[in-house]
Amino acid sequence: MAPAGAVSISGAATHYTRVAGVVGGAVLEAAKALLKARRAFAFTGAGISAESGIPTFRGGSNSLWGRFDPRELATPEAFARDPLKVWKWYAWRIELVLKARPNPAHKALAELERMGVIEAVVTQNVDGLHQRAGSRRVVELHGNILRVRCSRAGCGFRATLSEPPKELPPRCPRCGGLLRPDVVWFGEPLPPEAWREAEAIARSSDAVLVVGTSGVVYPAAYIPLMVREGGGVIIEVNVEPSAITPYATIFIRGKASEALPKLVELVRELAGT
Ligand code: OAD
Repeated sequence: MAPAGAVSISGAATHYTRVAGVVGGAVLEAAKALLKARRAFAFTGAGISAESGIPTFRGGSNSLWGRFDPRELATPEAFARDPLKVWKWYAWRIELVLKARPNPAHKALAELERMGVIEAVVTQNVDGLHQRAGSRRVVELHGNILRVRCSRAGCGFRATLSEPPKELPPRCPRCGGLLRPDVVWFGEPLPPEAWREAEAIARSSDAVLVVGTSGVVYPAAYIPLMVREGGGVIIEVNVEPSAITPYATIFIRGKASEALPKLVELVRELAGT
């Protein structure tokens, strides 16, 4: 039976509620499910950083892919055609990321890891905000926007940025080739080690807390589905239903920065810590 405050909906989600003002409902069910799990982790997307001032990719005219064409900015072909145009866009995004601060949702996930409730955060985000919030095991499936690497095959130069590159497009100090952001572009494979680690985590977990992702970009979106495939539960936090919602056991409709601190509070209460 649905707990007080939760409304059952058709489909796979058994508990569905809005966060605002709700103490029990889906958030309580989520806390119980996390404590019951043998191994759990979080899987995050752009929505968790939205309240840190970093625009999401989809959803509305203000989103990145609502304003910009990914084919002109986030593909190897676009970079080969016009590296300056691509770099100007990345320099703007790097500045946004450097100005951003982790929000209560990032901090709540770091806290769940400290409490031993989740083991890791597997993220599609490139902003490094999980690490800055204190999460220790972060698997970055799409790279990191604050890193650059040489685009010339065989050079191998890599560096971390503390400010946007001064001259655009930046050049490799080792070989003079073009540096590129160390992120995954459309049409490129994911970093094999990150993928292997994420898959191993997903295959050995029986619960995943999915936060702020539309769940439409593959192969990343397979990660939470692997948990479901193995008989585990998907707990989802999103301001609206996503492509993952039909597979979710518990769906918490609300802002990550409101839902996750509440979740931590309830986990603490239930665990008696
Ligand atoms: P999207 O922009 O596709 O989806 C963001 C999700 O966050 C949506 O489902 C929103 O409803 C939700 N959302 C927005 N604000 C929220 C909030 N405050 N609290 C909770 N949820 C919120 O972002 P991703 O799913 O991360 O890939 O996108 C996946 C990939 O597509 C990205 O990693 C990027 C992009 O192209 C690469 O760059 C390779």
